[in-house]
Amino acid sequence: MTPRVVIARHLPEAGRALLAERFDLDDDGVEDLAARVRGADALVADPTVPVDAALLDAAGKSLKVVANFAVGYDNIDLAACRERGVLVTNTPDVLTNATAELAVALMLSAARRAGEAERMVRAHRWEGWHPGQLLGRELSGSTVGIVGLGRIGTRVAELLQGFGVTLLYAARSRHPEQEARLGAAHTDLDSLLERSDFVTLHVPLTAETHHLIDDRALRRMQPGAVLVNTSRGGLVDSVALARALRDGALFAAGLDVYEQEPTVPTELLELENAVLLPHIGSATTAARSGMARLAAENVIAILEGRAPLTPVS
Ligand code: GLV
Repeated sequence: MTPRVVIARHLPEAGRALLAERFDLDDDGVEDLAARVRGADALVADPTVPVDAALLDAAGKSLKVVANFAVGYDNIDLAACRERGVLVTNTPDVLTNATAELAVALMLSAARRAGEAERMVRAHRWEGWHPGQLLGRELSGSTVGIVGLGRIGTRVAELLQGFGVTLLYAARSRHPEQEARLGAAHTDLDSLLERSDFVTLHVPLTAETHHLIDDRALRRMQPGAVLVNTSRGGLVDSVALARALRDGALFAAGLDVYEQEPTVPTELLELENAVLLPHIGSATTAARSGMARLAAENVIAILEGRAPLTPVS
């Protein structure tokens, strides 16, 4: 029998076509997912789709793989998958550059008050050039702290080479190659927070990293500092962040991710010094096509009895 593959929401054509020519593909998404997954051999999920024990049980014993259309997989209960013999894959590498570029864009936008300035123009409140208007901070020559020097954190460090920054990084293990090639110095998180003008987060969301940036961490940061988060909203305590931004404990923040997406806390929406984007880190045509192809290739490999290209565990 032709294996059945369920796409939970939407898979760009570059991957959808690969699946459609091989499998019985369910991507109409009209019915409830729990009903659609019944008897599926593969499920293509994404960060908005919680894959828990109940959904896996709804799929039943036929399910062999959950292919996440994302590099992060905090939406998936890995232990429940393991217990049921279901493999999990993700889409690393193909979105590294897009996400790193967005982190740099957020550093610059937050430091140069681009959101606030644009709102002024659109509201017809701009009265012309003024020497003291909208003064920001410069990335060039600053100290940038990268939390997590994996693929995306490393790419951020590469992109920043032209800015003449001092690079610090905090990570569980040392990365001697990047230290030598990119001039990044390893330090612990507290010292990184204290010394950096810009702090950018590139660790996955896990039980250990939940609220890694809490009130205590924010109070260690410099009053002129900028915090950027393109990873997962759960890394930052958003109530504490809003307070720090309001009180001037931080200069600005650039956020692409939130704790309860798509809800963005009102406290943040009200702040001029928060640049708020709607989770678009990997939203380039090249990255999304690459992600779609890789998710599909993982499904094909597993359903054809080969090893997946990018398993997460
Ligand atoms: C998107 O958020 C991803 O993890 O790829």
